[in-house]
Amino acid sequence: MEQLIQKSLDVGITTFDHADIYGDHRNEEIFGNVLRKNASLRQKIELVTKCGIKFPSTQRPKSWIKHYDTSKEHILWSVHNSLKMLSTDHIDLLLIHRPDPLMNPTEIAEAFTLLKQSGKVLHFGVSNFTPTQFEMLQHFLPFPLVTNQLEISVSYHVPLFDGSLDVLMKHQVSPMAWSPLGGGKLVREGQKEVFSKASKYNATEAQLSLAWLLKHPSSIFPVIGTTKPDRIVESAKAIDIQLDLQDWFEILKVAQGREMP
Ligand SMILES: NC(=O)c1ccc[n+]([C@@H]2O[C@H](COP(=O)([O-])OP(=O)(O)OC[C@H]3O[C@@H](n4cnc5c(N)ncnc54)[C@H](OP(=O)(O)O)[C@@H]3O)[C@@H](O)[C@H]2O)c1
Repeated sequence: MEQLIQKSLDVGITTFDHADIYGDHRNEEIFGNVLRKNASLRQKIELVTKCGIKFPSTQRPKSWIKHYDTSKEHILWSVHNSLKMLSTDHIDLLLIHRPDPLMNPTEIAEAFTLLKQSGKVLHFGVSNFTPTQFEMLQHFLPFPLVTNQLEISVSYHVPLFDGSLDVLMKHQVSPMAWSPLGGGKLVREGQKEVFSKASKYNATEAQLSLAWLLKHPSSIFPVIGTTKPDRIVESAKAIDIQLDLQDWFEILKVAQGREMP
């Protein structure tokens, strides 16, 4: 974990994406152990974490079915727990992990307001929200949501066409893209056809996948998911690749299996 963090900082990546549930509720603590050992690290990084999903686990014996909980009480408890696990006095960005069919926007607004006033959370966002869910929650909040973390990649480009990115651009909010390499599928399965221009850009398939996202005008922040320090360095180089317009559409065409209409 220390190596991964250090390699990220070396290439200018300073934001780390967490969730209370990652690693069966253990990831925040493992990351927090690095902060516990090295107190000066905290001021060099931004911490994102999420709340709202509960599932059966020895770590959470009270849950007997996977479900969502976006009550004020749970959000406040979850943040309190994340602060302890991550060994920090504040979270830079808190996301509601999934749209909860029972979410009460007034309760969420009350929880967010208390967390902001106490300085425990600086900014708020959502994840996997539809455009209407995003605008509905925003309507009840006294401050702007700063992101919607969505699955977006060359292999899952639905948000480019279903209004998800449009509504974020309307609100001048940058999306975060989870599984930007399709969960690794785009690189593991050697998508030579999709990335036929790799040699033109002297780039790997992973770098082209990220450069493809970075060309979108909504300023997508890809959330890379590698456990290999060298791949962090490789990924960061994507920022220097400027994909030509037609190459961008060629990647989309091959990924979609059809030309643009
Ligand atoms: N909000 C949500 O609902 C949600 C859902 C899922 C994920 N997320 C977040 O998004 C992050 C990224 O998602 P993801 O892990 O699915 O992302 P991903 O980057 O699309 O996939 C990661 C997989 O790709 C491999 N990989 C990464 N870089 C590579 C490279 N340069 N060359 C070859 N293989 C490479 C990784 O293996 P190695 O480890 O061996 O490199 C890993 O198996 C997660 O860590 C999490 O923070 C959020």
